Parts: sequence; structure tokens; C-alpha cells
Amino acid sequence: NKKGFIFDLDGVIVDTAKYHYLAWKELANELGFDITLEQNEQLKGVSRIRSLEIILGWGNVTLTEEEFMKYMAEKNDNYLSHIAQMDAGEILPDVPKILNYLQKKQQGIALGSASKNARKILQKVGLFNVFEGIVDGNDVSKAKPDPEVFLIAAQKLNITPKNCIVFEDSVAGVTAANTAEMISIGIGSEETLGHADFVFNDFTEIQTSFIEELIKR
Ligand code: G6P
Ligand code: MG
Repeated sequence: NKKGFIFDLDGVIVDTAKYHYLAWKELANELGFDITLEQNEQLKGVSRIRSLEIILGWGNVTLTEEEFMKYMAEKNDNYLSHIAQMDAGEILPDVPKILNYLQKKQQGIALGSASKNARKILQKVGLFNVFEGIVDGNDVSKAKPDPEVFLIAAQKLNITPKNCIVFEDSVAGVTAANTAEMISIGIGSEETLGHADFVFNDFTEIQTSFIEELIKR
């Protein structure tokens, strides 16, 4: 019995969501306004371009095409300076436990991330070789909540979408998994991710017996 387990990266495997937030906040401050943590929830799972468009809308700021590209590059440089410091210590609690268990049970393991920095981050934390298939922001044309990223990941695993399980921390990502007719597991608060099939605060709440049931389903 082989199922496909597809993991989002930012906020699921590693807590890079905090670095994205810091970098966007700095950019907003530079433009004369601020971003709240609540607003940041809406940026999770959202592509780099779309995120900047949304942020500029919040601040009522209009930029020329050239300025837009400049700020987007600046945000990524800032973000990458945080990434440069990362190591295996930044893998979120009990994520290795679940990954090891899935490997032991010979399950399909893939990454489905909107980030163009995903491969770099996986390398930094030493998880690159755990994933049989990696689909990131460089591989998709339609961003979450479109299901494309997860459908390509399923294809890479050679497993039908209905036999896939997605771990996601973003509203848009859970919607994408649901649209792909995959089982969605929200990592975060029930309040934000109530549309997921299951919600856990983090991986420490996920027992291997639960994973075993998903495999048998
Ligand atoms: C993930 C994060 C988003 C980020 C997006 C693009 O989905 O949750 O906050 O904007 O990836 O990331 P990138 O590394 O390509 O800027
Ligand atoms: Mg995420």
C-alpha cells in the first residue's frame, strides 16, 4: 500500500514563514507602513509576485514596473540572508520522526512548495535527498490555491491524487489540496485552517498510528 505524502516547505518543514514575514515587514516599513501578523497569514503559500502586489494594496502604494522588480529582488536578498544561516536545527519538531516513518514504510514523499528557494533550503537543512519528487515555484505556472503544484507532485510520485496526502500551513495551500481531491492536513490553528480534513498545531501532535491509518485507507 503506497500513498503519496506531499509536504509544503515554508511553515511545515521549516519555520521560514518568520523570515518571509521579517523581510516583507522591512520592505513595507521602507514604504511607510506596517504589516501585522494577521495580514501575514494571508501571504502564506502566496507567490513572491502576488505577495508584493497584495502588500502594496494594503499600503495603498503604486510602483512602476521597474520599482516593483527592484523591491521584489530586495526582499528576496533580505530573505536569503536569513536562509544563509540555516541548518538542520531549523527543521520543525518531529518532522524528521514522520519523514523517517514514511521512509521505513516505503511511502512516496514529495515536496509541493510555491517557493523558488525551496531546493536551496532543503539543501541547507540536509533534507534534499529525502524527497522522491520536488515541485517548487520554478516548476509551476499557476500558484496555490490552484492545485497544479500538488498534481505535478503526485505525477512525479506516480500516485493518483486521491491517494495523496498534503501537509500545509497556508489557507491557499489547504484549498489547493482540497481542489486536487487529496487529503489535506493543516499544520496550524483550527481557526485559520478549518477547511482542512485534519488540523494539528504541529508535528508533535501527529502520532505514527495516525500516519499508519492514512496509509491503510
Ligand atoms: C511559500 C511561502 C510564501 C512565499 C512563497 C514564495 O509559499 O509561504 O510566503 O512568498 O513561498 O517564496 P519565494 O522563496 O520564492 O519568495
Ligand atoms: Mg507554507
